[in-house]
This record gives sequence, structure tokens and C-alpha cells, in this order.
Amino acid sequence: MPGRLVRRISVVEGDITEQNVDAIVNAANRTLLGGGGVDGAIHRAAGPELLDECRTLGGCDTGEAKITRGYRLPARFIIHTVGPVWRGGQHGEDELLASCYREALALAESHDLKTIAFPAISTGAYGFPLPRATVIAVRTVLDYLSRSPEIDRVVFVCHGDRAFNLYHDAVMELAPEYAGEEPPDSSASEEPGSADQADDLKEQVRAQLHIIESVHGVRMVNREKLVGEISRHARDRRSVSLITAAINTWIAVNGITGETEIPGDELDRILTRIRD
Ligand code: APR
Repeated sequence: MPGRLVRRISVVEGDITEQNVDAIVNAANRTLLGGGGVDGAIHRAAGPELLDECRTLGGCDTGEAKITRGYRLPARFIIHTVGPVWRGGQHGEDELLASCYREALALAESHDLKTIAFPAISTGAYGFPLPRATVIAVRTVLDYLSRSPEIDRVVFVCHGDRAFNLYHDAVMELAPEYAGEEPPDSSASEEPGSADQADDLKEQVRAQLHIIESVHGVRMVNREKLVGEISRHARDRRSVSLITAAINTWIAVNGITGETEIPGDELDRILTRIRD
């Protein structure tokens, strides 16, 4: 169900060198000998021993991944991967970028690592369009997690509002496609009013409220009441996403943190607006 899968993905805004996970992923170049952007930040935070170890690796091909220790970083390991340089989209860039995420996850799994943080690979100096890269990153990770229970959590670490909103929306929109056993267009569970559909919608509401709570550091004290209200009003998964995105905006705009209760009149306003 969407809930279990999407609970294994977090979208945060911040600095990847500060993430307390088993491994952070570096957007490196083929020499693996450091650079600017994420690469420079990671080498600065990890210290000079990192470069000494990188020198022993013999470089890395685009789409491939290699692992080193994390040294002075909170993360125990660094998985270095080399994203494609954007050359217009007709030179296999999409597949090479997807390979970076797949290879990094496979390397983490082979080292029994459970939590891994990714930057937005190739979207800086390498010029890959962020919206396109975001969908590739989220789809590749969802596909991997839906087939492998070994990785507990993937964190997308975003630099800036635009990246955060793109990743957040992509996870919410795409997660349901990868979570159910039946194909997304199956009629069985979409029969309006069927028990399956009601459960599926409730699970999706729960999952999306969970993402909002983890992203904003809030705890909705009336969450179960919200789950009931929203799943009663939502016709399908898309309207669930629209309702929860409106709640997300209300929390962000009002700067809500900690324990909170979404007021009934605010929820009524959102449900009325979505229904009209
Ligand atoms: N934490 C998280 N994200 C970051 C950080 C950071 N500390 N610093 C930069 N970013 C974001 C950028 O905003 C961008 O969206 O990471 C994304 C990737 O940007 P780059 O670091 O430029 O990586 P990339 O586009 O893959 O280019 C790789 O740049 O640094 C050199 O040696 C590297 O040659 C290689 C090339």
C-alpha cells in the first residue's frame, strides 16, 4: 500500500553533509578527486583523508557508484556517483541518471546500509533540468524500494524551496503507482465506494499526512479524524493529493510547527474548494 512505501522516503531541505544516515551520496565527477557543489562540500566536511581514499579508487564511470568511508561526516559512508552532463536529452542522459540512483542503492544494500541520503544529482554544474531529474530520481527510488525491503529509508536532500517542492510533489503523486500489487489502472480497487477503494484512499491520506508531518516537524493531533473526513470527501487518489497539498500549503504559509490541530473550518474551506 502507498503508506508503507512512502513512509520509507523523506524529503528535506538542507545540507547533505549534515545528514545523520548510514551513507550520503556524492554528486562527483569521473576523477573522484573532488570539485565544487556537493562534491566540494562533502570533501570539505569529511576532511583530507577522504581524498586520500578516493585516490585509490581509480575514478568512476558515469552512471556507476563507488563507496568510501565518511571520515568526519555524521554519515559512516559516502557513495560517490557520477551523473550525466546534460546535452539536450538525446544522449542517454535519463537512463544514466537513473543508473546513478540504482547503483547507489545497490551498493548501499550490498554493504547492509539501511538509510541513505541523495542530493539532486546532475542538476547543478551538469545542467540536468531539475523537474525532469526529480521525476527520474523519485521513480527510480520508488521502483527500487518497491522491490527491495532491505533499505529502510531514503532521504532526498534539497537545496532551496523549488527543489523541495518538486521532490515533495513528485513523491506524493508517484508513490501510489509503485505500492499496490495490482496495476495502477486496475478496476477492482477503483470501484467507487468499494471497500478496497476506501481503504486505499485512507492509506494514501495517512501516508501523505505523514510526509507533511515529517517535512514540517508537526504532529497533527486530529490526524485520524482528518483521515476519515478527507477519505470520505475524496473521489480518488488525485483529489486526495489536492486536499493534502492544500493542507501542506496551509501549514507552510502559517509557519506551523510542533503539535497542531487542523481547524474544522479550515478543513471545510479546503474540502469545499476541492469539491467545486
Ligand atoms: N547539500 C545538498 N545539496 C547540495 C549541496 C549540499 N551541501 N550543495 C549543492 N547542492 C545541490 C545543488 O543545488 C544542485 O541542485 O546539489 C545539486 C547538484 O549540484 P552539483 O553539486 O553541481 O552536482 P552536479 O550537477 O552533479 O555536477 C557535478 O560538479 O562539483 C562538481 O565535482 C563535481 O564535476 C562534478 C560536477
